[in-house]
Amino acid sequence: LLTLGLVAIGGYLLGSIPFGVVLTRAAGTGDVRNIGSGNIGATNVLRTGRKDLAAATLILDAGKGAVALLIARYLFGETAGAVAGGAAFLGHLFPVWLGFKGGKGVATFFGLILAACWPLGLLAAATWLIVAFALRYSSLAALVAAALTPLYAILPLPALGLPASASILILAVFTAVLIYIRHHENIARLLKGAEPRIGAKKA
Ligand code: G3P
Repeated sequence: LLTLGLVAIGGYLLGSIPFGVVLTRAAGTGDVRNIGSGNIGATNVLRTGRKDLAAATLILDAGKGAVALLIARYLFGETAGAVAGGAAFLGHLFPVWLGFKGGKGVATFFGLILAACWPLGLLAAATWLIVAFALRYSSLAALVAAALTPLYAILPLPALGLPASASILILAVFTAVLIYIRHHENIARLLKGAEPRIGAKKA
């Protein structure tokens, strides 16, 4: 239990690094929190017009979740990996450095699921890409991918390493629920038809 506690603290600290804020400040575009939706994630970094910074934010926010899970799993096993991953996700949503006002968790979710079970991660990412390309809403793509991932996790597809283990299923459900809670403003905008599409000039 002490090990899991330490793993959770380490995961939280890694997850709480707000790469969108760090990169936009370093690049001199102005803090990402002052533009668009005010969110710290890659979708909103893209609204600065800097695709390179958005891509880097996506990779680093996903990578921190993946790294937390993989290190803890390597050292202490599957449960510790899931705990570290869940803690990194909470770190991204509630970073102590930003007064606990963090992001929506989508990139970190993809990093976690890819690291936990890569075929499941690819199914989740493919779902995001299909919805994003078809409808051009980043938030809707994330909401659909988050909802379907726990269902993909229980599919009986041994060739893809599915169904996933209980700890991965719990991680997928936990992160999906928090993604929905964090997207309540996006959901309201989507229902009103007021959500900006990917590539739209104004948020
Ligand atoms: O990744 C977060 C995305 O789903 C929504 O971001 O900035 O449009 O609220 P944003």
